[in-house]
Amino acid sequence: MEVKKIAVLGAGQMGNGIAHVCARAGYDVKMRDIEQKFIDKGIATIKGDLERGLKKGKITQEEIDSTLRRIKGVIDMKEAVKDADLVIEAIPEIVKLKLDTWQQVDALAPQNTVFASNTSSISITQMAAVTKRPQRFIGMHFFNPVPVMGLVEIIKGQSTDDATVETIKAVSTKVGKQTVVVNEAPGFAVNRVLVPAIMEAIFAIQEGVTTVEDLDLAIKLGLNWPMGPLTLVDFVGLDTTLYIADYFVDEFKDSKYRAPALLRKMVRAGWLGRKSGKGFYDYSTSPPKPLRF
Ligand code: 3HC
Repeated sequence: MEVKKIAVLGAGQMGNGIAHVCARAGYDVKMRDIEQKFIDKGIATIKGDLERGLKKGKITQEEIDSTLRRIKGVIDMKEAVKDADLVIEAIPEIVKLKLDTWQQVDALAPQNTVFASNTSSISITQMAAVTKRPQRFIGMHFFNPVPVMGLVEIIKGQSTDDATVETIKAVSTKVGKQTVVVNEAPGFAVNRVLVPAIMEAIFAIQEGVTTVEDLDLAIKLGLNWPMGPLTLVDFVGLDTTLYIADYFVDEFKDSKYRAPALLRKMVRAGWLGRKSGKGFYDYSTSPPKPLRF
């Protein structure tokens, strides 16, 4: 199936990144969110991210303008999905919200439209089951920052058919990403490995093994990661990461995935990382200041 029109649900960190790369690749994109202020913020982020490339001569003003022209911000769900070939959902990781949204979208989108969720851990099969097209439902997991990261993890649910996998492979390639196809399991492949690693880093801080900055430096230089794990958890969001860890415990019934008390306490205090201004680092200063625990 050839995809020309894409609806992206959610204009947040992941949603605007996905809308950005799809429009840049030539797709017509409708980016849907529940309030105009979220759409405006998403469009402003896309513009800012595209302009980084302008300064470096990687993109022309004309290309920026045509990319932005291909993105339409929409609030009404029917307007967003009524003529979409592909719907990519990037709304908050709340199971009930996802299930309700997919049920609504299923009733409004054409029968052949392919449905893809950018969930970082929630079951693809569970979401597919609330629609009448589970064979055309799939996981399409992008990584943050979407314009930079080279991977799309494609997740097959229990009923996903091969044609849907091929459609998503083709779209991912066109937006400049490499793909891996994995069978559904909590956290798929990348977060299955990443989240326990981040948890272990936080346990090390909680136990006083070293400081925030030294742990980050050690992993950056010792393992050649672009960011240390505490900078990374601040970047991804402490709430999102805690949610995934708790989901692992529920799904695997194995306490080895448990989150450190320190992480839970920080989330309860509203220390969510970069987006809230404070996490393992304080972002009110430049450069951000590592905190003591
Ligand atoms: N949009 C567009 N371009 C961007 C960008 C953005 N949001 N952020 C950075 N860039 C570009 C910069 O312009 C720069 O381009 P250049 O190479 O042409 O100069 C390049 O990316 C590198 O950026 P910087 O020089 O500003 O900074 P760094 O070299 O430190 O790179 C980083 C920043 C790309 C974020 C790098 O630190 C990195 O790769 N970090 C790890 C990110 C990661 O692990 N992401 C996955 C998170 S897990 C996830 O998303 C899954 C979820 O389910 C939890």
